[in-house]
Amino acid sequence: MSYIIYFFILIISLIHAQPPSLTSKSLCAQYYPNNDQSVQCECDDIDINRLSLKCLGHSYVPHFLPHIHYDRIDLESCAQDLQIGDKTFADLNINTLALRHCNLLGLSEESFAKINHLEKFSIENSTIVSLSTSTGNFQEIFQSDSFRTLKSLILKNVHYHQTHKHDKKLNLEKLLTQLPQLNRLELTNIYLDNYRYENLTDIGRNLTYLKLINTHQTSLVPIEHLPSLERLILIHLPQIFHTQPLIASIKFLKKLKYIFFAQNQLKNIDDLQSKTIDQIDLSSNLIESIDEYTFEHVPKLRTLTLTKNPLRSIDKNAFCGIDNLTLLYINNEHSSQISPLDNCILLSHAQLDIKQDSQTKLQCNCPLMHVFRLKRKHSRDINNLFNPNHACVVTNTTLEQAKNPHQLQNLLNLPIYIYELENFLNCSYTDDSCDRHCQDRRVKSTTISPIKVHKTSIDVQSKNTSVSPSLYSFFSYTLCLLLFAIRYL
Ligand SMILES: *[C@@H]1O[C@H](CO)[C@@H](O)[C@H](O)[C@H]1NC(C)=O
Ligand SMILES: *[C@@H]1O[C@H](CO)[C@@H](O)[C@H](O)[C@H]1NC(C)=O
Ligand SMILES: *[C@@H]1O[C@H](CO)[C@@H](O)[C@H](O)[C@H]1NC(C)=O
Ligand SMILES: *[C@@H]1O[C@H](CO)[C@@H](O)[C@H](O)[C@H]1NC(C)=O
Ligand SMILES: *[C@@H]1O[C@H](CO)[C@@H](O)[C@H](O)[C@H]1NC(C)=O
Ligand SMILES: *[C@@H]1O[C@H](CO)[C@@H](O)[C@H](O)[C@H]1NC(C)=O
Ligand SMILES: *[C@@H]1O[C@H](CO)[C@@H](O)[C@H](O)[C@H]1NC(C)=O
Repeated sequence: MSYIIYFFILIISLIHAQPPSLTSKSLCAQYYPNNDQSVQCECDDIDINRLSLKCLGHSYVPHFLPHIHYDRIDLESCAQDLQIGDKTFADLNINTLALRHCNLLGLSEESFAKINHLEKFSIENSTIVSLSTSTGNFQEIFQSDSFRTLKSLILKNVHYHQTHKHDKKLNLEKLLTQLPQLNRLELTNIYLDNYRYENLTDIGRNLTYLKLINTHQTSLVPIEHLPSLERLILIHLPQIFHTQPLIASIKFLKKLKYIFFAQNQLKNIDDLQSKTIDQIDLSSNLIESIDEYTFEHVPKLRTLTLTKNPLRSIDKNAFCGIDNLTLLYINNEHSSQISPLDNCILLSHAQLDIKQDSQTKLQCNCPLMHVFRLKRKHSRDINNLFNPNHACVVTNTTLEQAKNPHQLQNLLNLPIYIYELENFLNCSYTDDSCDRHCQDRRVKSTTISPIKVHKTSIDVQSKNTSVSPSLYSFFSYTLCLLLFAIRYL
């Protein structure tokens, strides 16, 4: 009996297994068979009527079929210069078209024309050897109709030689006009034009993700004109932070969640305000200290990354006003072994996950001794970073709190064990120094004015470097007045 049942199950499973595997295999097998030496594309069946093609080492574009839905078409590591003729991809349905490691010949407005459906397009590590666009400008290839509905564009390490037109760079405002539905834009190691004051009323409405890495321009479209932005990544573009009040403009972006500003020589982010941002990455800048209440206008902040900054101090009130800070990265390759953290943060942010270099030691002082005593009494939650068996470093402040400064002087800049602190320090008077967390400000009456002072100092800087726009508007204004006067004379 059981044999019969087993037999039936076997038959049923065979019947069920066979048809789908047949049909799903068939698409690749039928049109891009492995044994066909002329194609040499890796074909993957994605679905009944969808497949992906990855073509390596080609010197020509393989044959495509309009009735198939291509999930991806990757053309990689072309053996010779790849000629993409007019309407090569016409009538096709393609989710992602990606070109990598290829020398491209004769690109024009028509190369990518008449694609029935195209969502994502990328060119990486490639050289555009020759262009046949009407103006000889690379940007014109995006003029084609296929790009009107493009959602994602990636251009990374793209070199293009334009005979007689070396000065023509990609213009971001024009690109956003050419690609009105764009959600995601990533440009890396490519030359972008400076911002040129075009009509901005209608561009980049749907852009949620903007990543510019080493794009060489010194100014950027004012970001408040990109209202849908959720993630903004600007790396290695220090000049645009000088020429325009970029950080101050962030408050106008009502959907922004994430900023990543690395390698921009930033010293502070004093003008930052955002009710929506929950993740900030400022790694590889020049930030030396985080002052009290720095993030009070970024109440949703959860993750803060400050790695590779020359950080020397993080005030005990640095994170006041943010309830949900959960992760803090402060690793610093070339740090001076002394943690920038104020030791009171070990008490005030007991749950904060602090990632710092394992070699880094806390500073020896009275708050640390206070933390040690609380730990011994088990009376308070204390951050995991604290370990009484670790060492702390003796600094100038430690000497001020020493029982015997002369004795401790010999240990300056050297480590001592935290559990030994009581032998060295006389702290009776400072035991509660951590407990007024977020209650008083050092610069109390000037909660607003210091920010203003900073703003003006930034304005002064920006006037220096971006004289043209302000002068321009000033002159055009006076010119208008003059014209008016002349007219009515
Ligand atoms: C592109 O080239 C860079 C080096 O120039 C390399 O680091 C990167 O991995 C390459 N990208 C791809 C997708 O091959
Ligand atoms: C932006 O996206 C919405 C859907 O999210 C769409 O309805 C709208 O047409 C798009 N606008 C533009 C200018 O592409
Ligand atoms: C800017 O563009 C919008 C829509 O494209 C148009 O209505 C407006 O008149 C333009 N403004 C200028 C100053 O060209
Ligand atoms: C902090 O997180 C809690 C729980 O996720 C949430 O209810 C609260 O609104 C958050 N606070 C802020 C300021 O975002
Ligand atoms: C510490 O004191 C020494 C001399 O006692 C001085 O040279 C040094 O600048 C001081 N460092 C700080 C951070 O105050
Ligand atoms: C600790 O400092 C106080 C004054 O700040 C002083 O009166 C006391 O004698 C000191 N104690 C020791 C052990 O040095
Ligand atoms: C601004 O210009 C003055 C003189 O014109 C110069 O001394 C100063 O270094 C400049 N500052 C910046 C930030 O460029």
